[in-house]
Amino acid sequence: MDRRGFIETCTAGLSAAAHLPAWAGNARPRDYARTLLVTDKGEPLRASELKPQTNYLFHYPFEATPVFLLDLGRPVAAHALSTQDRNSYSWPGGVGNNRSVVAFSAICSHQLVYPTREVSFISFRKTRAHRGVQDGLIHCCAEHSQYDPARGAEVLSGPARQPLCAVLLAHDAKADTLTAYATLGGELFDEFFRKYEVKLSIDVGAKAKNAVAGPAVVRELDKYCRNAIQC
Ligand code: FES
Repeated sequence: MDRRGFIETCTAGLSAAAHLPAWAGNARPRDYARTLLVTDKGEPLRASELKPQTNYLFHYPFEATPVFLLDLGRPVAAHALSTQDRNSYSWPGGVGNNRSVVAFSAICSHQLVYPTREVSFISFRKTRAHRGVQDGLIHCCAEHSQYDPARGAEVLSGPARQPLCAVLLAHDAKADTLTAYATLGGELFDEFFRKYEVKLSIDVGAKAKNAVAGPAVVRELDKYCRNAIQC
């Protein structure tokens, strides 16, 4: 049995509440600044106050790199995945009191479509999209790549060749707050900054490539973006 097969076999035997360590594979977490998630009023975001199956957005680990924050409304377990370079990793599943809160880079792993203030072609769909294969997926309307956020943003269909990069969150059970601290999986930040260098310099300015320092503001996608495309 190869390494990936071994990990998948192990994962299948775990209960829904069990969690593999994030380093149980050869793609390791990449640590970034520990960043508290806050509301647009600057107050700590309470995980239990997230509306289930609603698109939220914050920027991490850089000022210009968007991340989807989702409460899937049900516990989600660890899942074994692989990048397009065949680096295996174990996404650790949901966090929060219900283990239902997840976060993924909102940069499509196909051709790097991402939400801007003007338009978003990629978002979570509570019910099946027009060309969707199931309810509750992240759908990119550009070429219809679809990702399952309950399985670490695994690719369900379309041309994408790897899952969305996961953003790892720590949940403080007492304060019910969320802190982003690392990514796990196939990062595409270098490609993203190369492809959108001019646009980002206009939209975000000189700080676009800066690592996030200080709290990250979480907003509903519909409040961040003027035109969230459905397809
Ligand atoms: S950029 Fe998302 S499917 Fe092509």
